Amino acid sequence: MSLDSPTQQASLGRIAALGPHIVDVLGRPVTEIPPGQGGMLLDEIRMTVAGTGGGAAVDLAKLGWGVSSFAAVGDDGLGAFLRFQLGRFGVDTTGLVGKQGALTSSTILPIRPNGERPALHVPGATSALRVDDIDEAALSTADALLLGGPETMPALLEPAGLDLIGRFRDGGRQVFVDLLAAGTPETLEALSGLLPLIDWFMPNDDQLRGLTGVEDLTKAALTLIDLGVGAVAVTTGSDGALVVRPEAGAIAVPAFATSVVDTTGCGDSFNAGMITGLVTGCSPADAALIGCACGSLVASGLGSDAGIVDLAGVLAVIATTQPDAAARIEQRIRAHAEARA
Ligand SMILES: Nc1ncnc2c1ncn2[C@@H]1O[C@H](COP(=O)(O)OP(=O)(O)OP(=O)(O)O)[C@@H](O)[C@H]1O
Ligand SMILES: [Mg+2]
Repeated sequence: MSLDSPTQQASLGRIAALGPHIVDVLGRPVTEIPPGQGGMLLDEIRMTVAGTGGGAAVDLAKLGWGVSSFAAVGDDGLGAFLRFQLGRFGVDTTGLVGKQGALTSSTILPIRPNGERPALHVPGATSALRVDDIDEAALSTADALLLGGPETMPALLEPAGLDLIGRFRDGGRQVFVDLLAAGTPETLEALSGLLPLIDWFMPNDDQLRGLTGVEDLTKAALTLIDLGVGAVAVTTGSDGALVVRPEAGAIAVPAFATSVVDTTGCGDSFNAGMITGLVTGCSPADAALIGCACGSLVASGLGSDAGIVDLAGVLAVIATTQPDAAARIEQRIRAHAEARA
């Protein structure tokens, strides 16, 4: 069986992507904001579905999952764009709730020639999500939950929100969490009730250090594990990722070399790859390898939906430096798909 046929890919299962769905408008290369009312010509401008919920939803769909999106959006044109664009990738958008009079969360990203990305952000509707906006029956059709950016959805951190997540997990299903914003001690405090409900926490290095105040990444991850998190996969940009589990030591997974255009959404794509590996039964190190391959592909183009075409393309990246791992991962994912058929 080939893994690149859409029909067969859809047999991987379903992931719920609950969290910020953001419209990104990106332009490159931007060397300066022209003074006064001056103008400047760019090579490329794109508008994409992004955010720790929306960006990962697109990547998961490309990798072959059925995906259900859950978030609050505005009742504006950008909200309509989100639904339209996610629909093109086959994502179920019935869980996107339009908030009257609110703006859809959005970001303008002037991308510098070296790929750096200052961000101008409108937080918008995301934080207005209420627990009863979420259709629990629809949520519970998923095999796993990605909770992207819980710090941006305060209602989910209240007892009713934590109960909802707890019920999802009761069936043995995994909960994956990443942050959207910078990590701070206040955020860690706000997340205290959620931490024991997290199977895998997947922040970047700055967020993990900011949350814990601990410089060493392994020690910082173990701090969170002590607070109830099951395991941590922390991303370290062009260095790759570090997987930390209780009593299993830390495993460093290297990044894949790529020609960087724009790193927007690399973390979201890492999450999509990591989830793909873990839910199909790959080892955590192999899952992180899938995540790093996804991240390197996304870094190679403009926008968080750039680079990744399908699972076969991601496996091809892994095969360039680690053919044995690529073969092992393909076999595991195929076995997962066949067991579901
Ligand atoms: N310059 C790069 N070269 C190769 N791979 C990269 C590069 N930047 C990121 N990646 C890959 O993408 C993964 C995630 O990147 P990063 O650590 O920058 O996430 P992030 O800061 O959470 O990004 P996001 O803005 O999407 O939240 C890394 O683990 C790495 O594998
Ligand atoms: Mg991130």
